[in-house]
Amino acid sequence: MSQFNVFITRQLPADLNPLQQIATVEVWPERQPPPYDLLLEKTKSIDGLLCLLTDRVDRHLIDTGTSLKVISQLAVGYDNIDIAAATARTIPVGHTPDVLTNATADFAWALLMAAARRVVEGDRLTRAGQWQTWEPDVLLGATITGATLGIVGLGRIGQAVARRAQGFEMQILYTGHRNLELERSLRVQFVPFEQLLHESDFVTIHAPLTAETHHLFGDRAFAQMKRSAILVNTARGAIVDPDALHRALTQGDIAAAALDVTEPEPIPTASPLLTLENLIVTPHIGSASRQTREKMAQMAIANLMAGLGGDRLPHCVNPEVYQ
Ligand code: DGY
Repeated sequence: MSQFNVFITRQLPADLNPLQQIATVEVWPERQPPPYDLLLEKTKSIDGLLCLLTDRVDRHLIDTGTSLKVISQLAVGYDNIDIAAATARTIPVGHTPDVLTNATADFAWALLMAAARRVVEGDRLTRAGQWQTWEPDVLLGATITGATLGIVGLGRIGQAVARRAQGFEMQILYTGHRNLELERSLRVQFVPFEQLLHESDFVTIHAPLTAETHHLFGDRAFAQMKRSAILVNTARGAIVDPDALHRALTQGDIAAAALDVTEPEPIPTASPLLTLENLIVTPHIGSASRQTREKMAQMAIANLMAGLGGDRLPHCVNPEVYQ
């Protein structure tokens, strides 16, 4: 008889055998997330929950899980989970930092370069049979080398983005928590948010979604950016107000944007944003390299198993539960 019951909200690229040695494991088999009411029902009788950023793990759900010992999130971000509610119940919450830093930074750069050099528009033009000859002025984009990059949030991923920017001889500005050590080692300059908006040719978002960052990029922010600026968001969709972005891109307040995350997700196919040529949208795949997703799954299972066994989670969001 297994000691524990576990619910995993999606199929994972991972070996579940070690987990199955200690727990009865149910894996949600569908491509879409389990509906909230179903997750609520499951939570009533489980010891461990392995969830994704598409699952709403709110106070009501957490309080329903009277035998819940651990919540393990397959992501570094955890804004879908009510951490305060989990902490109040002394339930540790795990996440998957570090392993996705480089993959996500690479992808932010892929979007930045694609938007700057109009890669997606070029592909569309070619497929539409409009590549007629070499032309001096077709699809002119922005110069990356030597430009100014503004990084909103210099956490692990922001730092990895800054390291890559050095190869492009960029001037690097950042906002968020000031870190003098990083300023020396990464040659980055801390500036107020408004100054970053005024001076950056490219702005890339690497901050968590919080009450402070929700719709940080709205009409006011776009009005302060260079008209030639390009915005990249690989963090969380709701940091950018989609209506304000639409206005900024159509009015020419900024030149272009590239989003891997949107509000809501998925972006509705009828969204007016999707009619714009100067916008690239990808389906939240920043961390989606095969090796990275496998490591994330292993890490999420390690957190889950530690929590079931009453051990400290290797990567815990709310370590205060151990005090
Ligand atoms: C995360 O980990 O928070 C990303 O958004 C998905 O990898």
